[in-house]
Amino acid sequence: MIIGNFLRNRKSVREFRKNSVSYEVLDEIKEHLNSIVEENKDKIQFRLYENGKHIYKELEGKGGYAGVMIDSPHYIALELKDKDSSTMIFGAYYMEKLITRLNEMGLGTCWVSVESVGEDLKKRLFGESTGEIDYLLSFGYEKRQNPFNAEPFSERMAIEEFVFDGEIGRGLTINELESKGLADIFYYVRFAPSTKNLQPWRFLIKDNNVELLLAYNEWDDHLFMDAGIVMYYFEILAKSQGMKAKWELKEEADKEIDNIKYRTIGKYRL
Ligand SMILES: Cc1cc2nc3c(=O)[nH]c(=O)nc-3n(C[C@H](O)[C@H](O)[C@H](O)COP(=O)(O)O)c2cc1C
Repeated sequence: MIIGNFLRNRKSVREFRKNSVSYEVLDEIKEHLNSIVEENKDKIQFRLYENGKHIYKELEGKGGYAGVMIDSPHYIALELKDKDSSTMIFGAYYMEKLITRLNEMGLGTCWVSVESVGEDLKKRLFGESTGEIDYLLSFGYEKRQNPFNAEPFSERMAIEEFVFDGEIGRGLTINELESKGLADIFYYVRFAPSTKNLQPWRFLIKDNNVELLLAYNEWDDHLFMDAGIVMYYFEILAKSQGMKAKWELKEEADKEIDNIKYRTIGKYRL
């Protein structure tokens, strides 16, 4: 499973070489930016900022987790035209599709949260006419790592912690997942990135569907981003196994089980 191996090795890059990406490569990226959002151009756009130095200087101490801004030679902003849940979900879905392309081109990337940066500064940096920009993508060539230092690795949950049989808490055996052709998909989809690596996704196997839910204590819209990302990887992993369906979004009242709340996001027909 080539895509599975890609996902297992995918990681956030937080240290970049100072040199810029060549104009030829930036031009190739611009072409991808235009085509990647498919039919959703009116709601989702990517904006490339070639001069990363300026963005970094202005966002130092403000962007990223607790103001730890990632210093990269270039950034791509994810611009959403509204705050609908579906726009956020698909914005993240396409951002991850873009990340996959950039990784294939030998570039390293890291999502950077800028939700808490003031609106005035964002308008000054990204332009007056932009919609909501809450996430950037840092990208460039990864700084060479000392081969004697262990690579940073973010832990992932075991399959039985996030895949259930019809209802939260009821487990499935690996054999049952294998018989449905889902064992490999869930093995690899765990490597999807998520905000602070919280891995909020939970999957229920129900009749001939896989349902995606998000587990949370306090709701925050960044959870929609985590959903879009995992939906993208689930779809391409499933496609590599011959399944051609696409996620359908689904709205339901949130549930609470053992003091954890769950929001239903979508359904994938097997
Ligand atoms: C929506 C989103 C926002 C993120 N924001 C940041 C950020 O502001 N700073 C950062 O260092 N990493 C950020 N990350 C990266 C995650 O922390 C990272 O993907 C996760 O810890 C898993 O590690 P890995 O990508 O190396 O597998 C973000 C990831 C996502 C999906």
